[in-house]
Amino acid sequence: MTDRYGVIGNPVAHSKGPQIHAAFARQTGQDLRYERILAPLGGFVEAVRAFRATGGRGLNVTLPFKIEACAFAKELTDRARDAGAVNTLSFDDGGGALGDNTDGAGLVADITLRLGVALAGRRVLVAGAGGAARGIVGPLLASHVAELVIVNRSPEAARVLAARHAQHAGVSGGAFGDLDDRGFDVVINATSASLGGNTLPLPAPVFGRCVLAYDLVYADQPTPFMRAASARGAAQVSDGLGMLVAQAAESFLLWRGVRPDPLPVMAELRPGCAAIAPR
Ligand code: ATR
Repeated sequence: MTDRYGVIGNPVAHSKGPQIHAAFARQTGQDLRYERILAPLGGFVEAVRAFRATGGRGLNVTLPFKIEACAFAKELTDRARDAGAVNTLSFDDGGGALGDNTDGAGLVADITLRLGVALAGRRVLVAGAGGAARGIVGPLLASHVAELVIVNRSPEAARVLAARHAQHAGVSGGAFGDLDDRGFDVVINATSASLGGNTLPLPAPVFGRCVLAYDLVYADQPTPFMRAASARGAAQVSDGLGMLVAQAAESFLLWRGVRPDPLPVMAELRPGCAAIAPR
C-alpha cells in the first residue's frame, strides 16, 4: 500500500508541499502520496488522529499549529525542543509520534549549498523573535557563526531568545535602535513584516558589508526587505523559497531515510534560480 503523508495547516490551500514531495518521490524512486489537510482552528489533534487512523505515516505542520504539534509529539528532537515548535511529525507503528523541526536546517542548507555563502566565522543579524526566529537561531549557531545579534520590534523578546542560547559566546538580543552603525555579513529577516508589505527600521550601515540578505518569506516579487537590502549595498538577496524546499528535503529524509536533492526541485518551482554557483 502506498504510504500517505501530508501538510496540515489553516489555511493550507496555498501549500507547495504536494508539488515538492511529489518531485522528491520521483527523484528518489519512493512510492508515497502527499496531500493537503485543512484542520479547523481548535481541531488540530482530532485531524492528526484521523489522518493517522487512515494510514498516515507523517505530516508537515504549518501555521498556526507548530506549537500545538510540539505538545502533541510524544518525543522531540533536540532541534524541535530548542525551537519550541514542530514542523514535521513522524508516526511509528507503536502509536508514538516523533516531532522534529527542519526549518533551521533548511535555511542553513539553502544559504550554504544553493547560495554558496559559508556561515562559519560570519557576523549574522536576525530580525524577529517569533516562531520563525526561534526555529533558526540554534542551527545558525551550530554553523559556527562568529556573532549572532537578534533584534526585534519588542526588544525584550529578542533578549529572551538570545538568553536561551547563552551557552554560545557572541549571542545578544535587543532593539533595532541598538544597531547604530554596525555592519553584518548575513542579515536574515525572520519577521512577518514583509507579509504586510512593511519594511524594517534597519539602519543603512547594517548592509554595508553584507554578502547575503535573506527573507524567510517567499514571494514572486522581491520583498520590501530584499529591495531595501539591495538598495543599501547587499551583494546578494534571496527570499525563502529555497529554505522551503530544503526543509521539505529534511522532512523527507526523516520519513523515508533518503535525502533528496533540493536543487532540481527549486529549479522546477522557479526556473533559473538554482543555478547560482557557489563562490
Ligand atoms: P512567526 O511565527 O512567523 O515568527 P510571530 O510569532 O507572530 O510569527 O512573530 C512575528 C515576528 O515578526 C515578531 O518578531 C514580530 O515582532 P514583535 O515581537 O515585536 O511583534 C515581527 N513583526 C511583525 N510585523 C512587524 C513589523 N511591521 N515590523 C517589525 N517587526 C514585525
